[in-house]
Amino acid sequence: MFLILKKIDGGSYATNDCGVFQQNTVLAATSLGLGNVIVGMVGTPFAQSEKVAELKAKFKWPEGYEFGMGLLVGHAVKGVAPHEVDESKLTVI
Ligand SMILES: Cc1cc2nc3c(=O)[nH]c(=O)nc-3n(C[C@H](O)[C@H](O)[C@H](O)COP(=O)(O)O)c2cc1C
Repeated sequence: MFLILKKIDGGSYATNDCGVFQQNTVLAATSLGLGNVIVGMVGTPFAQSEKVAELKAKFKWPEGYEFGMGLLVGHAVKGVAPHEVDESKLTVI
């Protein structure tokens, strides 16, 4: 599980930067034959749980950072074919 953190008040592109890291990691994992899922929900326990402080300590969460993106990488039980590109959703100018 990747917990991709961003600096609190790290600027308007901080979340995008997390997404860029996430997407590159997805591509790298896929090229290595590993399954992966982008998951925002993994951030929930670090925001809403009664055990936030305990969890953050366990994960060595640095001061001044907050959750940005989450990613699961592992050996997939089964694979699915990539989606077909729906060209009707593309606008070419
Ligand atoms: C930013 C972001 C956060 C996501 N968070 C979750 C999540 O918490 N739980 C989940 O089941 N899917 C989540 N998804 C969706 C999955 O990553 C995946 O896109 C979805 O299961 C559809 O997969 P498919 O397009 O291969 O069918 C998220 C997607 C994005 C882009």
